[in-house]
Amino acid sequence: MRPWLNKSLSFGILGLFLIALGISFCFLWPTVFHQILQKELALSPTSRSFEMWKDTSNLPPMFMKIYFFNWTNPEELNIKKPHFNQVGPYYFKEVRQKSDIKFNHENKTVSYVQRRIWYFDEERSNGSLSDVITNLDAVTVSGVHKIRFWEVDWQKSLSFLLSSTNRRYYISKTVDELLFTGYSDNLLTMGKMMPIDDVPAFDRFGWFYTRNNSDMDGHLNMETGEDDISQLGILRKWNYRDTTKFFKSPCNVIEGSAGGFWPPYRTKNQISLFSVEICRTITYEYEGTVSHFGIEGYRYTIDKKTLGNDTRRRYPHEQAKYFERTTTTEDFFAAEHLSEMGITTTTESVADDSSSEKNTNEYSDDDPDVINMGNCYCDGECTPSGLMNVTACRFGAPAFISLPHFYKGDSMLLDQVGGLHPNDKDHSFTVTLEPMTGIPLEVIARFQINLLLQPSETVTVFNNVPKIYMPMFWFELKVKISEDMASDLRKLLALPTVMLSIGIAMIAIGLGLIATTVFLYFKNKRRVPTTDVTEKAVDESSDKKTEMVYMDKTSSNNEDPNVRGDRRLYAKLY
Ligand SMILES: *[C@@H]1O[C@H](CO)[C@@H](O)[C@H](O)[C@H]1NC(C)=O
Ligand SMILES: *[C@@H]1O[C@H](CO)[C@@H](O)[C@H](O)[C@H]1NC(C)=O
Ligand SMILES: *[C@@H]1O[C@H](CO)[C@@H](O)[C@H](O)[C@H]1NC(C)=O
Ligand SMILES: *[C@@H]1O[C@H](CO)[C@@H](O)[C@H](O)[C@H]1NC(C)=O
Ligand SMILES: *[C@@H]1O[C@H](CO)[C@@H](O)[C@H](O)[C@H]1NC(C)=O
Ligand SMILES: *[C@@H]1O[C@H](CO)[C@@H](O)[C@H](O)[C@H]1NC(C)=O
Repeated sequence: MRPWLNKSLSFGILGLFLIALGISFCFLWPTVFHQILQKELALSPTSRSFEMWKDTSNLPPMFMKIYFFNWTNPEELNIKKPHFNQVGPYYFKEVRQKSDIKFNHENKTVSYVQRRIWYFDEERSNGSLSDVITNLDAVTVSGVHKIRFWEVDWQKSLSFLLSSTNRRYYISKTVDELLFTGYSDNLLTMGKMMPIDDVPAFDRFGWFYTRNNSDMDGHLNMETGEDDISQLGILRKWNYRDTTKFFKSPCNVIEGSAGGFWPPYRTKNQISLFSVEICRTITYEYEGTVSHFGIEGYRYTIDKKTLGNDTRRRYPHEQAKYFERTTTTEDFFAAEHLSEMGITTTTESVADDSSSEKNTNEYSDDDPDVINMGNCYCDGECTPSGLMNVTACRFGAPAFISLPHFYKGDSMLLDQVGGLHPNDKDHSFTVTLEPMTGIPLEVIARFQINLLLQPSETVTVFNNVPKIYMPMFWFELKVKISEDMASDLRKLLALPTVMLSIGIAMIAIGLGLIATTVFLYFKNKRRVPTTDVTEKAVDESSDKKTEMVYMDKTSSNNEDPNVRGDRRLYAKLY
């Protein structure tokens, strides 16, 4: 055997091997990376995210900012439109804790109860808890709204009660009373004696009364992403059910993220979240790409699909059977079909993340599965766009959620009141996710709570009031990825590039080795006679000489221990 052939053969084989390995690195890195994501992102008692998810008190503090609308001209309701001054912000540090955590391996979910604790931060606030705010009296407005379809006698008694105690449609209370401490009200005491079925017996009223450090958010059941990371963070059940009783089917279906986690591989389409505060799913639409600490993120924002009153969506009727019938399947079919409505405005796409391929297709009017989501959120009456009716979710109080300052709402909402100035920077609600991993880079949650004031024929105080959606207060909760976490995330995101580079380097080295082999082959071929002589000489001479011949040929590779080993091996074999 020819020594150079042996060596170049081994070079060639090594080269081929490296190329094969390099190619598999280049093609398999998505699979390898996916395995890494699966391992790193899934929620388990030992995962990196677990402690943060369980208790946020050790993380950089997050603050809820609250702004109130102070009504400056309540006496002039019938002659001038209501004018509001925005006051605040009042800062509350927010801590979130999960308890009763139970991992269910049989269905890859985790069950838990969430509580939120707020601490007033006077220093950051622009005002104090004893500031007095004037606005609509939520208790009387809710009372009048609640009994508006009751027998006239009931309504007359309420009317008499209000007039005799000199109650008006507005009230002045401190920030403290309006939020957490609440204030007692004899109307509430009366309410407890009335035949109101679904209203808990609150003795006080406050927008956040009883919510501090309580488990009022209910019992939640969420996917952990174990075995299938594409399910990570999806809320499956709320209070042991997969539907709610607050809206008609299919708007009652619990779907979307529970809030903390989103599955990896986000598209420039949309994401959805189930909010227990407003008892429904919110859809965020892709808005643009932004950067946080040098990491690119997709920014999604609340827009027409959530705020519009005729958002269409493809929702296969057979899906209905997968959900409990808190409302009947007939409701589902009855959810008015858009062709019946004859609506010809923009066609909306599906709010379902998991079938994003289909989402981009425009809907055909003939498709029986295309329904108008705006309709199942209406219960008889529909709201102007820009408002979400949460009456059912708020014990019958005529409460409506919008973006702050009615941003992106029907212009009629703004025309009815004075002092509101919507803009995108201060009033949008956005979620920014790193698209590859689905890790949130920034969440800016902002909502405004409004009450519907409307006239009542029997209740004297409300005889002549106009019908207006009155802004009460709005809040903002901003959470941003910390610099430490961003740096970890950057490392994770660099992995595909590293793997790809290694793959390419391997291919390059492999090609180099093969080229060397080919080169050596031809070089030696040209020297065939000489080689023959050498071989003859080698044949005739001692082992020592052989070794010397090899040493000559491989002298340039002397440092490489492998090659040296090879050389000895060949020599022996020879
Ligand atoms: C709200 O307006 C009332 C009068 O309209 C005023 O007395 C009160 O100080 C205002 N509150 C704040 C916090 O500015
Ligand atoms: C603080 O409140 C005052 C009066 O309500 C307002 O004029 C001012 O702009 C507020 N400052 C900040 C930083 O919001
Ligand atoms: C909320 O509850 C915590 C703990 O019970 C308490 O320390 C805090 O002051 C409360 N916050 C408010 C705003 O009442
Ligand atoms: C998963 O299993 C747990 C425990 O049996 C159960 O409470 C939960 O409702 C199940 N979740 C789903 C989505 O089936
Ligand atoms: C809001 O919803 C409630 C109950 O779900 C319904 O009775 C009411 O008519 C709705 N109001 C508007 C303005 O859509
Ligand atoms: C839906 O919203 C539009 C725009 O705000 C409004 O003109 C229309 O009356 C609303 N539809 C219903 C059924 O209320």
